[in-house]
Formats: sequence, C-alpha cells, structure tokens
Amino acid sequence: MLNQNSTIIVTGGAGYIGSHTIIELLQQTNYNVVSIDNFSNSTAKTFERIEAITGKQVKNLNVDICNLEALELALGKVKDPIGIIHFAAFKSVPQSVGDPLLYYHNNIASLVNILKICKKLSIANFIFSSSCSVYGNVEKLPVTEQTQFSVAESPYAHTKQMGEDIVTNFTKSESKFKSVLLRYFNPVGAHPSGFNGEYPRGRPDNLVPYITQTAAGILQKLTVFGDDYDTRDGSCIRDYIHVSDIADAHVRALNYLIENKQKKATSVFNLGTGVGVSVLEAIGSFEKVTRQKLNYEIGPRRPGDVISIYANNDFVKKELDWTPKYNLDDMMSSAWKWQVHLKDEQ
Ligand code: NAD
Ligand code: WQD
Repeated sequence: MLNQNSTIIVTGGAGYIGSHTIIELLQQTNYNVVSIDNFSNSTAKTFERIEAITGKQVKNLNVDICNLEALELALGKVKDPIGIIHFAAFKSVPQSVGDPLLYYHNNIASLVNILKICKKLSIANFIFSSSCSVYGNVEKLPVTEQTQFSVAESPYAHTKQMGEDIVTNFTKSESKFKSVLLRYFNPVGAHPSGFNGEYPRGRPDNLVPYITQTAAGILQKLTVFGDDYDTRDGSCIRDYIHVSDIADAHVRALNYLIENKQKKATSVFNLGTGVGVSVLEAIGSFEKVTRQKLNYEIGPRRPGDVISIYANNDFVKKELDWTPKYNLDDMMSSAWKWQVHLKDEQ
C-alpha cells in the first residue's frame, strides 16, 4: 500500500524543468515534495512562483549536491523519502566546451553522491534527466530509444552519456533499486498560467528564450543559424516539447516505478512530440500567436548544430500512457506570456 505522506526529493527544484515538475507533483499527487537546489542557476523566487500557482509551499534544502557530507546531513532529516527525481546539473553546451572540468565535476560528482544517498537511505525509485544530445549526430530519423549513440558532440552531452551508464550500472547492482532515464528533446514554453518559466542568466543560448527576449526588446535581433541546410525551408529541425508535458511525464514515470509497473531494472524513454519543426516555422508560430513581427536575420550556420533531429515517442506513449497535450502554438504563446509576466514582476 502506498503511503501518500511519503516524500519525493527533487534535485534542481528551483530550475526550469524541476519547478514545472514540482507543480505537477503538487497538483497530481499527495506526496510531500522536498527540493535540493543551491541556486547556482536559479533563484529562491521560483518557490514563490510555485506557491502562486499551486497554493503550496515547498521546502528547499540549499546544498551543493557535490558536497556529500552536507547532502547527508540535510537529507537525513527528510521523512520517508521514497523517490528521487534528479534534475540538478549544468546544461550549457558552449560553456561545457569552454570549461569541461566544471561540467564533469558538477554533473558527475552530484550524480554519484545522490546515488550514494539512495543506497544509504534505501530510496528505491530514481529518475534521471537525460537529453537527446546523447544520440549525437544520427543517420536515421526519427530517433528511437534503441538508436545507437554517436560520439558526444560536447562535454555536456558526454556527462549525460556517462550519467546514463552510471545509473544503469548502479541499478544492476542493487536488487531493490529501479530507475528511469528520460531523454528530453527540446523543452520550451512556460506554465500555461504564465507565472513560471525559463529564467536564463545572461544571454540565452537557446532559441525560444532568444525569440521572446528579442520580442521584448531585451535583445536587438535574433540570428537564424543557417537557411541553406537540406531541410524543407533550409533551417534546422528540432523536436520542441512543452515543459509542462515533460513535467507530466515525470509524474507518470514516478508512478510507474512506485506502483511496480516497470518490469525492467532501468527503462529509457524519449520525451519529444515526434514532430520536427524548423527554426523558421518556430518563428512563424511565435509571430502568429503574438501578432507581432520578430526582428530576425539569416546568419551563418552555428558550428556543431545537427541538421535535423526528432523523436519516435511510441514507447513512452504506450508504457506511461503519456501524450503531449500542447502544440507549437501553445509553446510559443506560453513562453511569451511568461516573458511579459517577468517584466511585470520587476
Ligand atoms: P536549470 O539550470 O534551470 O535547473 C537546474 C537546477 O539545478 C538549477 O536550479 C541549479 O541551481 C541546480 N543545480 C545545479 N547544480 C547543482 C548542485 N551541484 N547542487 C545543487 N543544485 C544544483 O536546468 P533545466 O533546464 O531545468 O534542466 C534540468 C535537467 O534537465 C538538467 O539535468 C539538464 O541537463 C536536463 N536537460 C535540460 C534540457 C533543456 O533544454 N532545458 C534538455 C535536456 C536535458
Ligand atoms: C534550436 C535551434 C539552432 C538560437 C540544445 C542542447 C541539447 C538540449 C536542448 C540539453 C537550432 C537554432 C538557436 C539562435 C537559432 N539541451 N537557433 N538562433 O541546440 O537543439 O539543443 O538544447 O540537454 O543538448 O544542445 O537547442 O535552442 O540552442 O537551438 O537559429 O539564436 O535553433 O541552430 O537549430 P539545440 P537550441
């Protein structure tokens, strides 16, 4: 019998995907939720936003997960922890190329520590944030969970390939431990309320915050990185997926583990819509839903960009009974609502 007063630990709960997942956990389950976040890429304000949406307060432990002693001390006080969703990591591809050791240290040391905690506190259910970047450059589309990994294109992507191996091998060694690896494609958008969303520090690397900040006048102009690729309009193709759909998949994966529906030790799921969208189509959707013209120009290709990638999501739909609810227009309109809200918040 499930104890609905048990606790789910969410690492990186103040971040973009962690905070949206906490919202879904609070709205869809009765579990207690405890976050661990040292605000290295977020602020405590996230918890006010979560409270504004859910009416519930979430406790955050401000601890660097790479510090095992501090982590043990903080988590030792958590009541009946039964699952961990591990989001905390650094995620900038270009930053990881410039400072690989920062990424190997933060992303790998934190993962090893959190698994040590699972062992010590007998926490049996574990979800790991992986990424479509583990696939590298693929030859055949769409990408299935069985698609072979190519060489990682960045140290960041390498930490996700290594992370998956670490979780898989640890799971094999612990008979009561089960894990799910979720490979996100391109998470975008914001909570439909517009009260919570992505909060990039400094100039964003990713397309959608770049679009919304340009439209808001914070950035002058968006550059489309290449329109001479062999795609339907010459720009790159990605599988953009609404962050609340990603969050919902975490709740389903958690229930799948806790309710013992997972027969394997470790499951792997692609989290994408299965629809490839070009950069120009993404801009077109933004312009349509916001009824404004975006200032953009076509520029040179960005080194290291894959031309086209999108998911086959048949397996996750069947196993977790998950279907993405939001389309591209919803992703763009919610991202814009959030950008406008941020201006009002200041
Ligand atoms: P984010 O930066 O918004 O959130 C990560 C959070 O973890 C931040 O709040 C940060 O302060 C915290 N954190 C990082 N290192 C920590 C440490 N050592 N101790 C304590 N807290 C720490 O990132 P996100 O977009 O929410 O991504 C969450 C996870 O999903 C990451 O593992 C990321 O690699 C993965 N992912 C993200 C994307 C994406 O496009 N956003 C795509 C695929 C995978
Ligand atoms: C999307 C498209 C760009 C900015 C990255 C990581 C990946 C995963 C998701 C974490 C591309 C184009 C972008 C701009 C543009 N993250 N673009 N002008 O590169 O697909 O994936 O985030 O795991 O690992 O690599 O996302 O948002 O940077 O780019 O034309 O100013 O938008 O060329 O085609 P990407 P992105």
